[in-house]
Amino acid sequence: MAKTLLVTGGAGFIGANFVRFALANRPDLRIINFDVLTYSGNLENLAGLESDDRYRFVKGDILDPEALDPLMEEADGVIHMAAESHVDRSIMDSGPFITTNVQGTQVVLDAARRAKGGKGVGRFLYVSTDEVYGSLPLENPEVRFTETSQIKPSSPYAASKTAGDLLSLAYFHTFGMDVVVTRCSNNFGPYQFPEKVIPLFVTNLLQGKKVPLYGDGKNVRDWLHVDDHCEAILAAFDRGQAGRVYNIGGDNERSNLDLTHSILSIMGHGEEMIEFVQDRPGHDRRYAIDASRIEQELGWKPTRSAWPEALVETIAWYRDNQDWWKRVKSGEYLAYYEKQYGASA
Ligand code: NAD
Ligand code: DAU
Repeated sequence: MAKTLLVTGGAGFIGANFVRFALANRPDLRIINFDVLTYSGNLENLAGLESDDRYRFVKGDILDPEALDPLMEEADGVIHMAAESHVDRSIMDSGPFITTNVQGTQVVLDAARRAKGGKGVGRFLYVSTDEVYGSLPLENPEVRFTETSQIKPSSPYAASKTAGDLLSLAYFHTFGMDVVVTRCSNNFGPYQFPEKVIPLFVTNLLQGKKVPLYGDGKNVRDWLHVDDHCEAILAAFDRGQAGRVYNIGGDNERSNLDLTHSILSIMGHGEEMIEFVQDRPGHDRRYAIDASRIEQELGWKPTRSAWPEALVETIAWYRDNQDWWKRVKSGEYLAYYEKQYGASA
């Protein structure tokens, strides 16, 4: 019998890739995509799926329990990834991050818990982030985040995700809810909103603009291809242990300077296109994931994240899909939605 997954935030970058990945690789799954379509939610990311009878889009807000309740009755599990996701925006205004990532997660957890006469919806997977662990120093490259590393978020975004993460685990401990939490590193791939560093830099260069590198450029991130992430989410959803946390990483650490040089070289540009700009306040120095738990317990490891291949392929996607990001970057996509998808979008 097909299982129905309720995916929150399925019109965003990871969400849309997840919906596509799950439908393509898992004939046993049906997906309900519940998304309010903020600036980063985009139904164009899901174009072509409208006629798939295993897929349904429902426009709605995770803060609205009345919208969630009937969907929880239909679902056999929840992948909760709706969020405000950009660190810089959280520094400019943390309000929406608390509302969506903290309060919104509480509303989704409560709806999941009261479903089916109080039996609960089934498994609840919270898509968390390695940012809950804060920052590692550059000096000890052998140290990585494990699931037992200290929780020490730095930015308002990271603090709000940590609240959602720990609240989800509290619902396991307090109510016996079937909760699994995944904490992953920086994703890259198609359909990423061009405020995040890779699509921002690639689309800037395609527009003939310079790339704004924060601070000294020595900050390190562990880059994970979004399809590897989607596969790991499904592994944790299917086979993860209730109440357990699984780190997910790409085993692909790069400094921002290395990343920038790789992008410049693949795209045929020189150093002169780098503009060093003021650093991000509180900028975390290094993220590095030890993903040995998910490998040992669930048999998952990244197979699509290695560079240069995965980066070359991602850059090619932005080069080949200029209509998509030009609309997104210009804000015209709101008008485009209405035309393509009608007033409900
Ligand atoms: P995104 O900003 O591209 O997408 C977020 C989606 O959530 C959008 O479609 C948006 O419309 C939706 N949304 C926001 N508020 C909502 C609300 N109130 N109700 C319903 N839907 C709402 O983000 P992303 O990069 O795809 O990240 C997805 C999840 O993965 C987030 O929880 C994020 O914290 C987490 N994560 C992201 C990364 C990464 O590198 N992008 C890494 C680790 C974890
Ligand atoms: O680690 C997981 C996190 O990765 C997720 O939880 C977040 O949702 C996601 O946005 C991402 O956070 P980062 O802050 O690491 O990603 P971002 O793409 O914003 O920045 C990556 C690095 O590039 C970071 O060190 C800051 C730097 N940067 C970013 C931008 C936007 C620049 O140097 N210049 C820029 O213009």
